[in-house]
Amino acid sequence: MGVSTAAPGDGRPANDDQTTMLVRKIPDGSVIDHIAAGKALSVLRLLGNPQENGFTIAMVMNVSSSKMKRKDIVKVEGMEVSQEQVQKLALIAPRASVNIVRSYRVVAKRNAVPPRTLRGILSCTAPTCVSVREKDSAPSIFFLSGRSPLRYRCKYCGRELTEKEISSQLG
Ligand code: CTP
Ligand code: ZN
Repeated sequence: MGVSTAAPGDGRPANDDQTTMLVRKIPDGSVIDHIAAGKALSVLRLLGNPQENGFTIAMVMNVSSSKMKRKDIVKVEGMEVSQEQVQKLALIAPRASVNIVRSYRVVAKRNAVPPRTLRGILSCTAPTCVSVREKDSAPSIFFLSGRSPLRYRCKYCGRELTEKEISSQLG
């Protein structure tokens, strides 16, 4: 194989093929692709920091992509991301695709689809909102109001949370 033009230090962005060469294929586990650039560490945190529990992680950060300007990729060897984790992932990496790999092959692709309704996961940022003043009798409920960028609207007061606010509440 020739020398990759994505070699560290040449200053040029890598394309999708070159990105593949930066990090080797994994035999078993999960590949979370199309994470917005800068979110890889939040994704790892959301997965419970598997590197602290004996799993091997590979990460590619800030590479150029055909589907989005810049992206991060996270690979976790030996761990299959659950359906529940995929749902939560949709909130901090709404364009992510989760690939489940067995014996070097992608056996399932789970797209992170943001749920239409979220109960008890986000908190309203309006101080006068009933869900803030009376947490016990009015548990937080948010409805999806935008996908790109991601937005959720409070059922009680209509306040919209931006993608940034959503990420910071979960991260
Ligand atoms: N991958 C990996 N190890 C494997 C198989 C795949 O790390 N044994 C990675 C690939 O490098 C890629 C991702 O998993 O980043 C998805 O693989 P694949 O579906 O083969 O690639 P694409 O068709 O490019 O995916 P998409 O359609 O999601 O862009
Ligand atoms: Zn509210």
